[in-house]
Amino acid sequence: MNYLRNAWTVAAWASELPPGKLLARTLLDEPLVFYRDATGAPHALADRCPHRFAPLSMGQLCDGGASVQCPYHGLRFDASGACVHNPHGDGRIPQAAKVKSYPIVERWSALWIWLGDPERADAALIPEFSFNAPEHWAVGTGSMVVEAPYELEIDNILDLSHIEFMHPLFASEAVRRGKVECQQDGETVWSKRFMPDDEQVPAFLRQAFQVPQGPIDRWLHVRWNAPASMALWAGGVASGQAMEQGVVSHQAHCFTPESAGRTHYFYSIAFPRAMGPVADELAVQNLAALRTPFEQEDKPVVEAVGRRMGGADLFALKPVLLAGDAAAVRARRLLQALIDKESVA
Ligand code: FES
Ligand SMILES: [Fe+2]
Repeated sequence: MNYLRNAWTVAAWASELPPGKLLARTLLDEPLVFYRDATGAPHALADRCPHRFAPLSMGQLCDGGASVQCPYHGLRFDASGACVHNPHGDGRIPQAAKVKSYPIVERWSALWIWLGDPERADAALIPEFSFNAPEHWAVGTGSMVVEAPYELEIDNILDLSHIEFMHPLFASEAVRRGKVECQQDGETVWSKRFMPDDEQVPAFLRQAFQVPQGPIDRWLHVRWNAPASMALWAGGVASGQAMEQGVVSHQAHCFTPESAGRTHYFYSIAFPRAMGPVADELAVQNLAALRTPFEQEDKPVVEAVGRRMGGADLFALKPVLLAGDAAAVRARRLLQALIDKESVA
């Protein structure tokens, strides 16, 4: 499987890695172990001891979080992956006793990992998700594993015309007939759906947009960055008013492949702390409200699509293209070009 390696991708939500814990997770077919050192800084190592190949994630943190001890015969490895302790024989450290370590950065409530050339791992390249900064935002986070190729999730989020058919909770005819614009800005792709004069806004959305009656101008803006890190802004305002006056929900939908057919889905919804204590309540409530459609509506259909495609490339199957497909097609082509560029480099 050819993955894009020279890109930051979400490995976990920061909250999934409390101090003292070893977290095992396979990304891009590479088994990894994650932990925090005594300062709280996250680290990622290959999860396979070079002695008899035991998973380090079955071992324990030692030396106050400075090293990970293999569960089998007790070799210890520091954050650079170097073996720092050999409890056997004369204690000499064999030269080959090292594991790979990976650049990892905690930012925007997430742990971002770089699985490509470490020399190129510039933290400035992490896509901007400032609405997930916990200092200023109440952030509700969730995750799930989807048994489908991650590219199908790019299609799902960049083409929200499926809302009317798949998500009765958010359904409104206006979503389908909305005008969609696809834009590209360097290596960033946007899908901007504008739905003017929506008269049939579901009650809870009407409440969220704080427009008790009358038509609402709604929009769904999605920003994609490779490989599959997407931000989604869902906004609404009384028809005719400026978008700046509206209420906007800020969401992240980030996907990292575990393997060709299995994907880690990291989602979040955030509300500004400036709203007061209600921001935390809203984050919890809205996250719970989103979980059901994600798990019970998107996931089964996306997984079934994956099974029907049987591992074939989307374009090789000559898919019928509809109006809402432009952004996903653009993102997929850009992603493939980035992957191709890596494989010839
Ligand atoms: S397998 Fe790790 S020390 Fe033996
Ligand atoms: Fe959906």
